[in-house]
Amino acid sequence: MERDALYQDVYEKYMNFINPNLAKLMGFGGFGVEMRAEGCYIYDHEGRQFLDCLGGYGTFSFGHRHPRIIDAVKRQLDIMPLSGKAFFGQNAANLAAKLAELTPGDLKVSFFCNSGTEAVEACLKLAKGATGRVKIVSTEGSYHGKTLGALAATGRAKYRKKFEPLMPGVEFVPYGDVEALVNAVDDQTACVILEPIQGEGGIIVPPDGYLRAAREACDKHGALLIFDEVQTGMGRTGYRFGCNHDGVAPDLMSLAKAIGGGVMPLGVAVYTEDVYNKVFGENPLAHTSTFGGNPLACAAGLEALAVLEEEGLAERSRILGERMLAGFRKIQAKFPELLADVRGRGLMIGAEFSMDEVGEVVVATLMKHGVCVAYTLNNPRVLRFEPPLTVSEEQIEKALAAFEDGLLETQSLLALLV
Ligand SMILES: Cc1ncc(COP(=O)(O)O)c(C=O)c1O
Repeated sequence: MERDALYQDVYEKYMNFINPNLAKLMGFGGFGVEMRAEGCYIYDHEGRQFLDCLGGYGTFSFGHRHPRIIDAVKRQLDIMPLSGKAFFGQNAANLAAKLAELTPGDLKVSFFCNSGTEAVEACLKLAKGATGRVKIVSTEGSYHGKTLGALAATGRAKYRKKFEPLMPGVEFVPYGDVEALVNAVDDQTACVILEPIQGEGGIIVPPDGYLRAAREACDKHGALLIFDEVQTGMGRTGYRFGCNHDGVAPDLMSLAKAIGGGVMPLGVAVYTEDVYNKVFGENPLAHTSTFGGNPLACAAGLEALAVLEEEGLAERSRILGERMLAGFRKIQAKFPELLADVRGRGLMIGAEFSMDEVGEVVVATLMKHGVCVAYTLNNPRVLRFEPPLTVSEEQIEKALAAFEDGLLETQSLLALLV
């Protein structure tokens, strides 16, 4: 099919059969049809190359089509892609054992599923089941997914309102505020759920000591602590898991996105033996998933963990992230009126504009410059940069230069409006 015709065909099908309003937004952002991807690049229907600084919202920590992960999945595909379910699975067993070794503290038992929201659902459900309590403390601006349970704990009313009443018992406190968090936890609290760094909330890094204070408050009241590491896990923040920065371990951890190696959808809830015993002790089928733990996804997860360790990607994320952030700070100094803040940890970086709507214009200009980015879901003023952890220094320079050009163009555009 000719290029324009191909785009038109896909666009019209989105308009008719998927989500017309989203299609219009994507069209405005300059997004074409993705045709293939390799390493840090995505190629569209016109053959244009885009440096992927969005990274599938944190999914492509290993880049696109990492050869080792592709090989592992292909090998498994030729043997047995999905599980018969009645038998034991070798990949699931190995992946669970590896996660018990690599996750912090007493995390030991894995429940496998297929997405981030399912991993969060599992954590919330198990925390309620293990404690017999209903109260959940979450944070404003948090993002935990859009299925009904995870949505109930997601700190943005815009997504919740239309679907209320949702799961009762969730209380929201401002993120990063130790006192508010500690005051909210009591003897009725089943769990506290936190992202070690808020992703969709706008790349919000909490003050040092915040995660530890949450741990102490939970311990004091017999509540469980959930770290939602769907976005911060797998080296993204310069540590294997985001909470490693603080040296604090949760009772339950949700993982997804990058743990599938950028090749397969995979979600995991990892929790302590104590949580397991309290929930599954009486009923080993208390929580299940047909596709969860399938051999293909687990092959991807196992290889992804091996690559993460062997290629030292967490360390790479820390070093390159510091460099990239320093680059952003220099740019911020040149555009003090446009850029209110730049922040982040590792290769999880946010640039916050001082006014609304600028984000969309900058996304469009960056796309024109061959750099793919997006703003954070709960905070459109913040552009997030989450390139593959395999990104090169040269590619980082390219992204920074394109960002600076994007700001220059936006500045000229704004000057025309006044
Ligand atoms: C911290 C966090 N939790 C949960 C989710 C939901 O993941 P999914 O979109 O795979 O359901 C996301 C997605 O962005 C996330 O960032």
